[in-house]
Amino acid sequence: MDIKEIRLEELDTEKFITEKIEEISSIVGDGLAINALSGGVDSSAVTMLGHRALGDRFKTYFIDNGLMRRGEPEYIVSLFKEMGVTVELVHAEKTFFDALKGQTDPEQKREAITRSFYKDVFGELVRQIGAKYLLQGTNYTDIEETVAGIKRQHNILEQLGIDPEAMYGYRVLEPLIQLRKSAIREVAKALRIPKEICNRPPFPGPALAARVIGEVTPERVKIVRDATNIVEQELSDMGAFQYLAVLHEDKVTGVREGKRDYGLQIEVRCWESTDAKIGSPTRLPHDVLDRLAERVTTEVPGVVSVTYNITKKPPSTIEAV
Ligand code: XMP
Repeated sequence: MDIKEIRLEELDTEKFITEKIEEISSIVGDGLAINALSGGVDSSAVTMLGHRALGDRFKTYFIDNGLMRRGEPEYIVSLFKEMGVTVELVHAEKTFFDALKGQTDPEQKREAITRSFYKDVFGELVRQIGAKYLLQGTNYTDIEETVAGIKRQHNILEQLGIDPEAMYGYRVLEPLIQLRKSAIREVAKALRIPKEICNRPPFPGPALAARVIGEVTPERVKIVRDATNIVEQELSDMGAFQYLAVLHEDKVTGVREGKRDYGLQIEVRCWESTDAKIGSPTRLPHDVLDRLAERVTTEVPGVVSVTYNITKKPPSTIEAV
């Protein structure tokens, strides 16, 4: 891998920001660039770098792929509005669900999302507005995992031999590629991005699809979205690196009101980690686990089993897909 990591200890945030702004503005020249804001710290930092480098020659979109957490698109658009950044909401739910239809293999699901995002949605946006560049928040860990063949990170292109210019008609700039998450948080703080974004747990590019085992349908995403909402409410004070709900493909036998109920399984994961490269499960108090089980089985229709993942990464990974 010929990209050199800048470690947190050696990062000079102000110097980094100045250099990246200069780099973006010299590459893009007087053309137009765009980016997709997901609300995570990486894409938020890229959004601010792009706006500082290019002003109104930089357009930011929030792509609603139908795989986001509850209320997320509206929340992010309004938060950036308060910072003076206009974010256009693009409804692309159908494109993504059509591409995911019938797909059960994890890597094929990730590939379907990549294709929908870069080719169908961004290819079209770029054509419409005449942009030549897409800025995105790929980080060092994403590259490492893709190159190692662990997961096809949805935002990795050139490292997989995909030439975005030839395939999609635009070039991709990745200003954060030398940094890991902890360093990106420092850059985001220096860019005056609100604390609620800087300190947010990571959220994967393929969004809730990374947490649905088997076919990703609107109905199955809704189940994992409802469970995620409960998990995030209950675990946000634990100081964990990341916490999530996974919907399993297999059903299990349960019992409700004295009758057999063959229902769904939700797995909860809560991670201690600093950079997502390795991780271990948080030792959650049993009363917290009890409350999670109680809430998920009563508030999410069809769920009869809640489990807690007690495996380290490796051999587990943080997301399930
Ligand atoms: P895994 O599941 O590989 O995840 O242990 C490591 C970290 O990366 C996040 N993740 C992604 N981030 N695009 C991203 O931008 C992706 O395709 C992707 N897949 C996983 C995951 O949430 C964790 O923080």
